[in-house]
Amino acid sequence: MDVTRVPQSMQIVFALFFLLFQAREFSCCHDTERQSLLKFKRGITAGQLSSWVGKDCCSWPGVGCNHTTGHIIHLSLQNIGLEGEISPSLAALEHLTYLDLSSNGFEGPLPIFMHSFHDLRYLNLSNLYLEGSIPHQLGNLSNLRVLDLSFNSLLLDNSRWLSRLASLQHLDLSDISFARGVKWLQALNKLPSLVKLILYQCIIPDHILPSLPHLNFTSLTTLDLSYTYFNSTLPGWLLNLTSLEFLYLGGNYFSIPFPDAIENKVFLKEVDLSYNHFIHGDPSVRLEEHCQLQVLSLSWMNITGDLNQFKGMFSGCIRESLRSLDLGGNQLNGSLPEWLGEFKNLESLLLYSNSFSGPVPASLGRLSSLQNLMLWDNQLKGSVPESLGGLSSLANLVLRSNSLEGVVSEKHFANMTKLRQLDLRYNSLAVKVKSDWVAPFQLEKILLGSCRLGPQFPTWLKTQINYSWLDLSYTGISDVVPHWFWKLSSNFGHLDLSHNELKSMVPNMMHINLTLPFSIDLSSNFFEGPVPLFPSNLDSLDLSNNSFSGPIPEIIGTAMQSLYFFSLSMNNIEGPVPSSMCRMTKLRAVDLSRNHLSKELPNCWQDLTDLAVFDMSSNNLTGVLPSTVCSIKALLSLHLENNNMNGNLPISMKNLTRLRTLDLGSNEFTGGIPSSIGHGLPHLKILILRSNRFHGHIPPQLSNLSSLQILDLSHNSFLGTIPPTFGNFSSIRISPKSLGEIVDVGSYTETILLVTKNQENFYDKLLSIMTTLDLSDNNLSGQIPEQITSLLGLWNLNLSGNHLTGEITHKFSQLIELESLDLSRNQLSGSIPPALSNLTFLSHFNVSYNNLTGSIPSGNQLNTFTDPSAFMGNPFLCGFPLNNSCDKVVTDEPAYKNEIKTHNHDAIWLYISAVLGFVLGFWVVWGVLLFSEASRHSYFRVVDDFFDRVYVSVVLNFRLIKRKVWNRKQGVA
Ligand SMILES: *[C@@H]1O[C@H](CO)[C@@H](O)[C@H](O)[C@H]1NC(C)=O
Ligand SMILES: *[C@@H]1O[C@H](CO)[C@@H](O)[C@H](O)[C@H]1NC(C)=O
Ligand SMILES: *[C@@H]1O[C@H](CO)[C@@H](O)[C@H](O)[C@H]1NC(C)=O
Repeated sequence: MDVTRVPQSMQIVFALFFLLFQAREFSCCHDTERQSLLKFKRGITAGQLSSWVGKDCCSWPGVGCNHTTGHIIHLSLQNIGLEGEISPSLAALEHLTYLDLSSNGFEGPLPIFMHSFHDLRYLNLSNLYLEGSIPHQLGNLSNLRVLDLSFNSLLLDNSRWLSRLASLQHLDLSDISFARGVKWLQALNKLPSLVKLILYQCIIPDHILPSLPHLNFTSLTTLDLSYTYFNSTLPGWLLNLTSLEFLYLGGNYFSIPFPDAIENKVFLKEVDLSYNHFIHGDPSVRLEEHCQLQVLSLSWMNITGDLNQFKGMFSGCIRESLRSLDLGGNQLNGSLPEWLGEFKNLESLLLYSNSFSGPVPASLGRLSSLQNLMLWDNQLKGSVPESLGGLSSLANLVLRSNSLEGVVSEKHFANMTKLRQLDLRYNSLAVKVKSDWVAPFQLEKILLGSCRLGPQFPTWLKTQINYSWLDLSYTGISDVVPHWFWKLSSNFGHLDLSHNELKSMVPNMMHINLTLPFSIDLSSNFFEGPVPLFPSNLDSLDLSNNSFSGPIPEIIGTAMQSLYFFSLSMNNIEGPVPSSMCRMTKLRAVDLSRNHLSKELPNCWQDLTDLAVFDMSSNNLTGVLPSTVCSIKALLSLHLENNNMNGNLPISMKNLTRLRTLDLGSNEFTGGIPSSIGHGLPHLKILILRSNRFHGHIPPQLSNLSSLQILDLSHNSFLGTIPPTFGNFSSIRISPKSLGEIVDVGSYTETILLVTKNQENFYDKLLSIMTTLDLSDNNLSGQIPEQITSLLGLWNLNLSGNHLTGEITHKFSQLIELESLDLSRNQLSGSIPPALSNLTFLSHFNVSYNNLTGSIPSGNQLNTFTDPSAFMGNPFLCGFPLNNSCDKVVTDEPAYKNEIKTHNHDAIWLYISAVLGFVLGFWVVWGVLLFSEASRHSYFRVVDDFFDRVYVSVVLNFRLIKRKVWNRKQGVA
C-alpha cells in the first residue's frame, strides 16, 4: 500500500470540504444579520413573513445578499400588509444599500437607527403610518440616491440635514407637513444631482414658493408641486428649469402665463397646470420645438375665448406628439376647430364643461388613437358626425348635456369595437338602430337617458351582457320589457328605466348573484304585479308611480337589508306594513305614500337610526302613532297625513329634534298639542295638524318654533284665544328667501297639500319660501291678537270659521307680503280699515259673515275684489261690490253658506297660461302671471317639473319686478 496516497486523497477531500464549506458560508447569511431579521419578524403583529425560515436568510423572500461578502444588502418588503413597529434590531444590517418598507401598516416615529446605514442608496418609507419629526440624522446617509418619505404623518421641522444628502437624485416628500419658517427650498438647492422632486400635497403653512437668487438643481427633470396651495407668483427659477420633462403644478393659486411659462422647456413630456389661474400669454409664442410633449392639462383655469386663438401654438410637431389634451372646466367658447383632427396620436381629448357651440367637427373621426372623447356640458349643436364611427380605439364617448340633435345609428358605431362607456344623455338625440343590430362593442356604461329610443324596447341590449350602468329614463319607450332583459350581469351597478311607458311584471331577482352595491329606478312606468325582491346588496329602489299591487312581501326587510332609499309611492299596494321593514337599518328614506296600506304600523322602528324621511301618507292606516317612530333622532320629515290614525300625540315627539316637517293632517288624532313640542323642535318648518279631532287650548309655546313657516291647525276643535305669542314666529317675521329642498334624501320630493285662497294645492319646490298661518274652523274666540301683524313675511292668514270678536286692526296693512287674508265666518265688528289697500300682493280677501259695518273701502288692491261674496253676510256693510249703497240699510241677507268655492275660472286660466307658455313663449306666461295673481301658485305647481331652472328666477324676480312695476305706478300717480 502506498501510505502517502491516503493523506493525499484526504487532503483533497479536506480541500473540497473546505471549499464547499467556504462556498456555503458565502451564500448563507451572517448569523447576526439573520437574528436581526428574526427579531424584526417577531415585532410584526400582522402580515406574512412565514416563509422567513431556515438558515439561508439570503434566500428569504425580499432579502438579497452580496454574494461575495454574504452580507444582506437588499431588503424589499413593500405592500405585504405588515403591521407593528419597525424593530431597531434592523440596525444590525449595516451593509444595506436598498431598503423598501413602503405601503405597509408600520406605526410610530421614523426610526433614528436608519442613519447608521452608511451604504444606503435607496430608502423608501412611503405610505406608512409614521409620525413625528423626520430625524435630522438622516443627513448622514450621504450615499442616498433615492429618498421617499411620502404619505406619512411626518413633520419636516429642520431642513439643514437635507442639504447633506449630496448624492440625492430623487426626493419625494408628498403629504408631509413643513414647519413654519423651514428653509426647505434653500436646503434643496444645495443638491446639484437632484433630478426628481415631488412635493405633492405638502402642507406648507405660508403657502409661499420662495424665490432663489441662484439656481443649483439645473438637472431637475421632474417637478411636482401639485395641490400644495402655493399662493404666490411663479418664481423665476421655476421658469428657468429648462431640462424639465415632467412638470406638475395643478391645484395651486399660481397665475400662469401660457404658453410663455413653458416656452423654454423643450424637453417637456407632461405638463399639468390645472386648477391655477390662466393668463393669456404672447399669442405669437409657438410650441414648435416641444416635440416630446405628450400630456397637457389646462383644466379648470378660467381660460376664456375661442379655442381657435390657440391654433398657432398648437401647430408643428406637437400635433404628432400630444396624447392627452385636457381643457375641461374652462370658459372657452366658439366652435370646436377642425384642426383638432390633426393630433395624430391623441388618446384623450377632454373639452368638457366649457361653452363650446357649433357642431362636433367631423375631423375628429381621423383621431385613430383616440380613447377618450369627453365633450359633455357644452352647447354643441347639430348632429353627431358619422365619421366618429371610425374611432376604433375609442373607449369613452361622453357627449351628455349638449344640444345635439338628429339620429344616431349603427354607422356611428361601425368600428367602435373597444367602446366601454356611451353617454348621450340630455341632448335631443334619437338612437335608431335595426332591431337585429349586434353592436361591435360590449359596453360597461350605457347612458341614454332622455334620448329618443322608443317606442320599442331596444333589442340590441340583448347582446350587451356585461354592462354595469344602464340609464334609459325618459326615452319614450312604450313596450313590454322582454324577459331576457332581467338577466343582470354580476358586476351590475345602476339601472334607471324611469319615466317611460314600460309594462310587465318584474321578476323576483332575490337570488341573482351581484358583487357590488346597486340601485334600481323603475319609477313612473306601468309596471305591474307583485312587489319584486332583489339581492341584499341593493341600496336604492324606486318603484313609485307604477301599478304594482298586492301586499308588501313579508320578508322584504330581511331580503333587502342594505336599502337606504325605498319608494313604493303611488301604486296599488294593500295590506299591512310588514314589521320586517324595521330591519332595513340603513334606510334614509322610505316612501310608501298613496297606496291602500291598512292596519296599524308596526312599532319597531328604533333601530333605523339614519332614517330621515318616513312617508306613509294617503293610505288607510289605523292605530296610533308608534312610539318608536319618535325615537328616530335623524328624522327630518314625517308624513302620516290622510290616514285613519288616532290617539294622542306622544310626548316623546319632542325628541325628534331635527324634524323639519310634521304632517298629520286628515286623521283622527285627538287630545291636545303637547306644549313641549314648542321647545324640542327648533328646525320644524312645517306643522300640519289639519282635519283631526284635536282640542284644548293652542299652547302659546308653539311660537318658540323658530323655524316654523307653515302652521295649519284648521278643522279641529281648538278653543280659547289665539296666543298673542304667535307674533313671535321668527321665521315668519321676515320673508323667507332661500329656495331649496326642505329635505334632500335620494330622489324623495317633499309634497304638501295646502289650502290657500280657498283652493287645495300641492306644493313642493315652493315650500321653502311659503308662509302660512291657518287656524280656520276651530272654536277660537276672543280678539285677533294685534301681535300677529308683526309676521311681516306672512303670505297666507286664515282665521275663518271661529268665534273671533273685536275689530280688524288697521295694522294688518303692515303684512305687505300677504296674498290671502280670510277672516270670514266670525263675529268681527267695526269697519274694514281702508289701510288694507296697501296690501299690494293681496289676491284673495274674504270678510264675509261677520258683523262688519260701514262702507267697503276702495283704492289700489281693494278695487280688484269685485266679487260680492267676499263681503256678504255683514248686514251693516255697504258699498261696491255689495248691492246696497251706503245710503240705505239692507236687512235681508241670504242664508249662511259654508261651501268651498271651486275656482273653475282660475283653473281655466291656468291651463290656458300653461299652453300659451309653451306655444307663444315665456313672456305670455309672464303676462298671465302678472295679471292673474290668483293662479300664480297653482301655476308654478303645474310647471314645477318642466321649468326646474326657470322657476327659481321667476319666483325670485317676480316679486321684484312686481314691486318695481308697482313703485313706478305709484310714482306716476
Ligand atoms: C459585494 O461586496 C464586494 C466587496 O465589498 C464589492 O466589491 C461588491 O461591489 C459588492 N457587490 C454588490 C453587488 O454590492
Ligand atoms: C449650489 O450647490 C453647491 C454644491 O452643493 C453649494 O456649495 C452651493 O452653496 C449651492 N448654491 C446655493 C446658492 O445654494
Ligand atoms: C392669496 O394671498 C392673498 C394675499 O396674500 C390673499 O389676499 C388671498 O386671499 C390668498 N388666496 C388664497 C386662496 O389663499
